[in-house]
Amino acid sequence: MKFYIKNVILKTTLPRIEMIFVLIINWNDFLLPYEQAVAEIKLKLENVTKQYEATYKHCPVEVIEGRVKSVGSILQKAEKKGISLEDIGEKVEDIAGLRIICRFVEDIEKVVQMIYDRKDFDMTVLVERDYINNTKSSGYRSYHLIVEYPVVALGGRKNLKVEIQIRTMSMNFWATIEHSLRYKYNGNIPDYVQERLKSSAEAAFQLDREMSNIRDEITEAQRISLTLQNAVNEILNNLQRLYEVAEMDKVNKMNREFIEIYQSNNIDKLLGFKERIKVLVDVYKVRY
Ligand code: GTP
Ligand code: MG
Repeated sequence: MKFYIKNVILKTTLPRIEMIFVLIINWNDFLLPYEQAVAEIKLKLENVTKQYEATYKHCPVEVIEGRVKSVGSILQKAEKKGISLEDIGEKVEDIAGLRIICRFVEDIEKVVQMIYDRKDFDMTVLVERDYINNTKSSGYRSYHLIVEYPVVALGGRKNLKVEIQIRTMSMNFWATIEHSLRYKYNGNIPDYVQERLKSSAEAAFQLDREMSNIRDEITEAQRISLTLQNAVNEILNNLQRLYEVAEMDKVNKMNREFIEIYQSNNIDKLLGFKERIKVLVDVYKVRY
């Protein structure tokens, strides 16, 4: 048997049906500002992403998803938590929800900071839940922020609560699978499946760690290559200057030494040579 409220179909498990009929909110009007909040925040954060792309910096945000909770789920949650309909806006914190997916675990704190930094502009963090350092018993990992976000609509300004979940692609993969299993088993996932889920959560986190290590290697390689490039440029400039002021034999000798060091691929030797030639240039500067 199903109850029809406006054009929304609700399951029979719903609470105090008569009360809902009495208090029935115009759900479309009620949810509209939440739709607006989700759309606005998504657009704003996506624009930050574009700015990162323009500067060739690694962007901590990979994908942003957003949704407004369905009426059925809102009522189910209210019933489960004993929240009265008048308090839904205040106490159901995830009517408006955004999910920010990152590539690397380290990106998560950057995104969290990015949201904190908006304090004087639009959103204020009310609650912070770190399920990465405090992994849930299910194996769930994610970083949650409940923010307050002002929406300006026809009725004026309204401050809404919005839940922002920040997680890596790997954490998201796990949570999506676990969520569908929870749904399949109606919340009572059998022990043996739960155990498997827990160990796969650890495997997913291990993948995150490996990716972070690889990333460190890439960044380190980029750093070394840049240092090398700058050192070579400086050496060549200084050699050029020496040709103008120093004895030809001496400069030729240094030039040959430079080529040898350059071919040996020894960065420490190269940096040492860079310093030596710098001192020499300074000496000649004083002399002339
Ligand atoms: P609900 O879990 O939503 O009733 O609210 P709560 O007050 O317990 O907040 P919590 O921070 O625990 O969860 C908020 C949201 O995080 C949930 O609605 C889910 O989207 C997600 N979440 C929390 N725990 C789990 C979990 O074990 N598995 C999965 N897949 N998602 C979870
Ligand atoms: Mg929960």
